[in-house]
Amino acid sequence: MSSVTVIGTQWGDEGKGKVVDWLSERADIIVRFQGGHNAGHTLVIDGETYKLSLLPSGILRKNKLAVIASGVVIDPQALLKEIDELQERGVEISPDNLVIAENASLILPIHRYMDKRQEQVLRGGIGTTLRGIGPAYADRAARRALRVCDLADKSYLRTRLTSLLDHHAPLFSDSPDKPPSLQEMLTSLEESASRILPFAQPVWRLFEGRRHAQILFEGAQGVHLDLDHGTFPYVTSSRTVPAEAACSSGIATRRVGFVLGITKAYTTRVGLGPFPSEQDNEIGERLGKLGNEFGTVTNRKRRCGWFDAVLVRQSGIIAGIDGIALTKMDVLDSFAEIDICVGYLIDGERWTHLPPHPFLQARIEPIFETMPGWRASTRGARSWADLPAQAIKYVRRIEELIRQPVSLLSTSPEREDVIVVRDPFF
Ligand code: IMP
Ligand code: MG
Repeated sequence: MSSVTVIGTQWGDEGKGKVVDWLSERADIIVRFQGGHNAGHTLVIDGETYKLSLLPSGILRKNKLAVIASGVVIDPQALLKEIDELQERGVEISPDNLVIAENASLILPIHRYMDKRQEQVLRGGIGTTLRGIGPAYADRAARRALRVCDLADKSYLRTRLTSLLDHHAPLFSDSPDKPPSLQEMLTSLEESASRILPFAQPVWRLFEGRRHAQILFEGAQGVHLDLDHGTFPYVTSSRTVPAEAACSSGIATRRVGFVLGITKAYTTRVGLGPFPSEQDNEIGERLGKLGNEFGTVTNRKRRCGWFDAVLVRQSGIIAGIDGIALTKMDVLDSFAEIDICVGYLIDGERWTHLPPHPFLQARIEPIFETMPGWRASTRGARSWADLPAQAIKYVRRIEELIRQPVSLLSTSPEREDVIVVRDPFF
């Protein structure tokens, strides 16, 4: 038995989709364990691009079991749409290769309306994906949520939905934008039920008879978007750290296995919140253009900046990372000079970690170290010998600063363009 848990070490969009897909060839079971369709993973397979939101990347490979565990919030309509679109492209999806946790909570249409309303009026907004993620997790914590298993009983569904809608009614009392009625929501849930229930199972039981299975836990977002460890309140509403893989799946925490931190060779963030190494200038524009930094889910332009070693060293410790997969180095190929953020100054004092206080974060001045660029292509490299010496120096400097070894180096969006230092499944 061995397992690998893939985690983003920054603010999401580190290139997890590609790495997870590469690893999924070696796995028997691939588990999505948190988040929802706020995530967007882009995969390129034989020149064809696939964008996945809710389904684990392993769904694209034959003879793998893809699992959506209980910590994921599921929008039934979004899930069915994603399934339909993949099936139209010839991907086989059936209860034989997809299991959905029967105890996972649902995102209801009202959650989308609440997300929008809260962004507009109540909190001043944090730049969410407007998918209803936060309100759905809030209802789960408040024990109001409807779950996948509830879809099996119409009258139970009606009772629970009625009280949930009653609870939230005041939020919409003076809103011109009203959520659908109880009856509309019930009809849509009942329609989804017959298609979703065949996939519903107790996920914890899957692992019982599969002692030798290789499991890949596929994280979404990143450590700095974690509900507690992230840049609160500019975070998502789920736990993005590896322990959640075990909590969500109902499996021993030691089976989280090797923790692979996916790390982009520079930094991006989508939505609001602190970003010390941000380059709100022509450098950021260039990174965004070369890196095609537009959200997979919302198509928003991502904010871009230099690599922040403080941030990644911190997430390495918090998430117990065993090695990183460094991605998108080729985006830096044309830069004459490359900066790395190595520390923060706050009121003249040097900090080696990102404090949680928003008012201190607002006063951070990044300390940069400048390295010469390599001005040559690293794209598609499959061995160290294919890399310019200066590019290798950049990788070594990152390893030194974050105190983590590089396990994988991903050199293009294509599945097989990877330099393997240490295969996380060993
Ligand atoms: P929510 O998850 O939609 O509530 O959004 C909360 C914050 O997390 C916003 O800043 C989003 O942009 C960010 N976020 C959520 N999912 C992702 C993701 O998959 N990649 C990057 N940022 C994300
Ligand atoms: Mg993404």
